[in-house]
Amino acid sequence: MCGIVGYTGKATALTPVLEGLRRLEYRGYDSAGIALAVTKGEPLWIEKRAGKLGNLEATLTRVPDAHSGIGHTRWATHGGPTDRNAHPHLDNEGKLALIHNGIIENYVELREELEKRGHIFSSDTDTESVVHLLSDSRKKHNGDLAAAMREVCAELRGSFTLLAIHSDEPGRIVGARRNSPLVVGVGDGENFLASDVSAFIAYTKNALELGQDEVVDITAEKIVITNLAGDVLPQKAYEISWDASAAERGGFEHFMLKEIYEQPKAVADTLIGRTAGLDSEITAGINLEGITKVVIIACGTAFHAGLVGKYAIENWANISVDVELASEYRYREPSVDGTTLVIPISQSGETMDTLMAMRYARSKGARIFAVCNTNGSTIPRESDAVLYTYAGPEIAVASTKAFLTQLIAMYLIALHLATVRGTLTQKEHDEIVTHLAELPGKIEQVLETVEPLRELTRKFKSASSMLFLGRHVGFPAALEGALKLKELAYMHAEGFAAGELKHGPIALIDQGTPVVAVMPAAGSLLAEKMASNVQEVKARGAVIIAIGDADLASADHMIRIPATHPFLEPVLSVVPLQVIAYEMAVARGNDVDQPRNLAKSVTVE
Ligand code: M6R
Repeated sequence: MCGIVGYTGKATALTPVLEGLRRLEYRGYDSAGIALAVTKGEPLWIEKRAGKLGNLEATLTRVPDAHSGIGHTRWATHGGPTDRNAHPHLDNEGKLALIHNGIIENYVELREELEKRGHIFSSDTDTESVVHLLSDSRKKHNGDLAAAMREVCAELRGSFTLLAIHSDEPGRIVGARRNSPLVVGVGDGENFLASDVSAFIAYTKNALELGQDEVVDITAEKIVITNLAGDVLPQKAYEISWDASAAERGGFEHFMLKEIYEQPKAVADTLIGRTAGLDSEITAGINLEGITKVVIIACGTAFHAGLVGKYAIENWANISVDVELASEYRYREPSVDGTTLVIPISQSGETMDTLMAMRYARSKGARIFAVCNTNGSTIPRESDAVLYTYAGPEIAVASTKAFLTQLIAMYLIALHLATVRGTLTQKEHDEIVTHLAELPGKIEQVLETVEPLRELTRKFKSASSMLFLGRHVGFPAALEGALKLKELAYMHAEGFAAGELKHGPIALIDQGTPVVAVMPAAGSLLAEKMASNVQEVKARGAVIIAIGDADLASADHMIRIPATHPFLEPVLSVVPLQVIAYEMAVARGNDVDQPRNLAKSVTVE
């Protein structure tokens, strides 16, 4: 939700901190702030502003030189998006600064207690209680900020990533995490802390993972990781495979457009070396024998990938699959046990709803096989096995290439389960694999034809609503098309199973209502049924934009996509839907990469 970055080293800290914030702004853009340790023992230099990072940058004309600092970009939870609620927050001496991502659940009682002790608060945030608590604790520990952080974390309830800096030790930054992301970047004579690696990949490809309830203490030369008891822990190093240029716009007007065009590569990368079967490096930690049911848990776009996965797994591996909205799952206390395979799907690997649902299932003995795009994040770390997607960093808040690679991951898992369970013939298996291998080229073909679609989309710029219809795997594709449009164009949009229309939603159709029909494979039984559903809405005044592998006579506008295996169709049909949402957002003057009220990584429940 919020983006956090810390730098200590030889460079002028403002540069890496600001660059880090630019790369993390997708996580939240309600306000931004920076604290720098300029002179030992003097109050910290601090600047913070409500609104996007640009507002803060406009004020940074005369910034003193400093070699360590912390920066924050906020997605507001407690306290409105104002200057005073922007992070960093300071102690009453102005020497200790703190930034936070997450929610401190016991902040009210902490604040009452701290106010009784004479602390003066200057914001409405949950975070500010922590800086005052840390200030007291640091004094108690003779100025040892790491010891203070350990003590404070033990008192906190909720989820948090915290970074703190004190002007008495200008080169030292102390961080901690619980249920919220924090990674360490290991440089040469400089070190970094950040919500994710994109903040520092321009500087180093070497990173360290941080576990739950761990405290990290960095200077330019040293990194120490401890648990809350103060025991020094071994460091888990890994190399970042993402390329720094992947986090740049590379000549595209928006990250989202760039990411749409990166999809052929993302899909190819996710398929490489895996179609012949998932190797033991991926599956060693999980026994798939004897499972009786599969439960997929995810949110938003990842949930739609899960719905497509259900169709593939049930059909190819002949096992029952439930797809659950992660935010609903654990509170229902569903029945789950050691014979259940749970598949959490998450681009970020940090989505709190998904993480909590997964932990619930794990506590009941379920086997966890995660699908994730972010190496070293919490969800894969807490899973028995992980199938990583290779979408690379996805910066635009609206998910595009991550979704397509999640679909590929679901097909690969479905094939793997089918192999374990012996439910597909070799011929059926090979046919699917051939179609999978052709997908990157076919996505390229779809992308070559999107210009007229952009022009067509602009014609519907003033529509008040747009509906999306699909059947079979086209239904989750329709849901995804509607979600993208809501998220980006701030327009009413709904996705429906086309067969359901006559049970109520058809009443929404009015003269001129644009309806996007995601057509099933030409010649299939469902294509005929869907054509009838399209006729039903057309007869009531809808304007039909059809997406399919063959022309549809009743369509007012036809978007042709190449033919593929019927279960793989969403990989192609979703691309025009992404383009419609993108273009509609541009046409309506919306912020494409950072739509209002949203954040990329949702680390609160
Ligand atoms: O990081 P995750 O895949 O767990 O995120 C899940 C959803 O928050 C995410 O897909 C969201 O719906 C996207 N912004 C949609 O474009």
